[in-house]
Amino acid sequence: MITLLVAAADNDAIGKNNQLLWTLPNDMKFFKNSTWGMVVIMGRKTFESLGKALPGRTNIVITSNKDWVAKDVQTAHSIDEALKLAANSNCKEYFIIGGGEIYRQCMSIADKALITRVHHSFEADTYFKGFDPNDWVLKERIDFSKDEKHAYDYSFETWVKK
Ligand SMILES: NC(=O)c1ccc[n+]([C@@H]2O[C@H](COP(=O)([O-])OP(=O)(O)OC[C@H]3O[C@@H](n4cnc5c(N)ncnc54)[C@H](OP(=O)(O)O)[C@@H]3O)[C@@H](O)[C@H]2O)c1
Repeated sequence: MITLLVAAADNDAIGKNNQLLWTLPNDMKFFKNSTWGMVVIMGRKTFESLGKALPGRTNIVITSNKDWVAKDVQTAHSIDEALKLAANSNCKEYFIIGGGEIYRQCMSIADKALITRVHHSFEADTYFKGFDPNDWVLKERIDFSKDEKHAYDYSFETWVKK
């Protein structure tokens, strides 16, 4: 199963200057719990923004640069190659964890989408584009209100491809 995992604002903003736009500890926990022990597939820019491989997970980074290497990371040079590398693991679910370019290219092949919707509009340079709710069924939505640790209301949404 291929799962998109993304935190996107109401206006689909996901990042600016190669960084996230918010700090939401509950979303960080959700991300860690969902992906722990699994395969995570990301674009080279998202990897650079994280700064290092995510521990406890098989990290696959997609780049067009044939010389690119990083510690504790498998390098792929296309989406297909990333999926082939992922298939070598024993995991049944692969998580596409961004960024914008990679989400866009994986939209048509994903089976599931875990979207944290952040209820605010942000100025951004990267967006979660191409998600058409008509292609998906919303299976679950859990709403949270802002609090002292979370500056915005947000919702955890589980979508399954029709
Ligand atoms: N809110 C969220 O959930 C979330 C999650 C992840 C990231 N983000 C944010 O998103 C932003 C980064 O996203 P982005 O769209 O700029 O970059 P990205 O998708 O992370 O990475 C783009 C890079 O991936 C490589 N690439 C993409 N498609 C490829 C293909 N088909 N074949 C080979 N290589 C390919 C290229 O690397 P090369 O240039 O090396 O060839 C390209 O420059 C940051 O602001 C980050 O914080 C947000």
